[in-house]
Amino acid sequence: MTGGAGYIGSHAVFALQQAGYNVLILDNLVYGHKDLVDQVLKAELIEGSTLDQALLKSIFNQRQIDAVMHFAAYTYVGESVTNPSKYYESNVVGTLRLLDAMVEAGVKNFVFSSTCATYGMPQALPITETHPQNPINPYGMTKLMVEHILTDYDKAYDLRSVRFRYFNAAGAHPDGLLGEDHNPESHLIPLVLQTALGLRESISIFGTDYPTPDGTCVRDYIHVCDLADAHILGLEYLLNGGESTVFNLGNGNGFSVREVIDAAVRVTGRTIPVVETGRRPGDSSELVGSSQRAREVLGWNPKYSDIDTILAHAWQWHQHRHG
Ligand SMILES: NC(=O)c1ccc[n+]([C@@H]2O[C@H](COP(=O)([O-])OP(=O)(O)OC[C@H]3O[C@@H](n4cnc5c(N)ncnc54)[C@H](O)[C@@H]3O)[C@@H](O)[C@H]2O)c1
Repeated sequence: MTGGAGYIGSHAVFALQQAGYNVLILDNLVYGHKDLVDQVLKAELIEGSTLDQALLKSIFNQRQIDAVMHFAAYTYVGESVTNPSKYYESNVVGTLRLLDAMVEAGVKNFVFSSTCATYGMPQALPITETHPQNPINPYGMTKLMVEHILTDYDKAYDLRSVRFRYFNAAGAHPDGLLGEDHNPESHLIPLVLQTALGLRESISIFGTDYPTPDGTCVRDYIHVCDLADAHILGLEYLLNGGESTVFNLGNGNGFSVREVIDAAVRVTGRTIPVVETGRRPGDSSELVGSSQRAREVLGWNPKYSDIDTILAHAWQWHQHRHG
């Protein structure tokens, strides 16, 4: 697995271990957390980059690898606009090197972390897998390019893949030992909880005049453990001979920024100062996905779709990590 020291990857490692799989992690630790890999997951970690062809070759030569889950990527949308080179290199070139090493070693099963950012501005809601893909930033474009590469690699090299387009990953493992720790942090829920902990002065709401019930943007928050479970189902689908395909992974229920903040106040019992400010360019009013296909084909059944539960798990983790 690449990116297994990161937020979603670490939860997938845990779920795979619980399901009895042996996991080898490749992570350059630019954003990953070695302490969580060593102390919580107790998993094997190779510190290195997907851009390192010699390293990839030696890993595939020396180890018996049945499948690759590829979480490694840079993920900051804003930075991808100001520094696209970094994103195309790591997210596209790095993935290409990984796929080429797999092809050379004869490894045929690939699970890929794509994103709802490949859709761009929604034309219809909820967004299904057939919605047009017109990303509005380089980050989304890097993921779309990899999706196209995967289609071609299947045709040419029989490398089969499951592409998961996640909506907003959120929450933390219910045992409180794994969770989201991005630095810098750009996601709403950790920012709200850091504000509840007093680590930030206030939380900003960007735009209160959107055509939504309370005027703030609506997003689809999917619990990270439900994402991890979907990865195991996706892996088993491929190992059982399933054809290359794509699935949205979302909650199906949108929550507005204000609803998330209200839930955080309920769950933490703390005061959370809010600053209302103008809209940000590029934010659509509502982004909600349909995950019907993952439910039907994979039998995926998300357990934690309630926003208070998502917040409660994230709060437990934040208190443990930053409290
Ligand atoms: N967090 C979300 O809401 C979300 C939504 C949609 C898609 N995704 C995708 O899911 C994946 C995981 O996201 P996350 O939130 O866990 O991010 P994260 O930053 O926590 O994890 C990514 C990990 O990859 C590592 N990494 C980055 N580039 C690497 C490289 N070239 N070689 C080796 N390791 C490298 C980082 O050190 C980090 O540990 C990413 O591909 C992201 O684009 C995330």
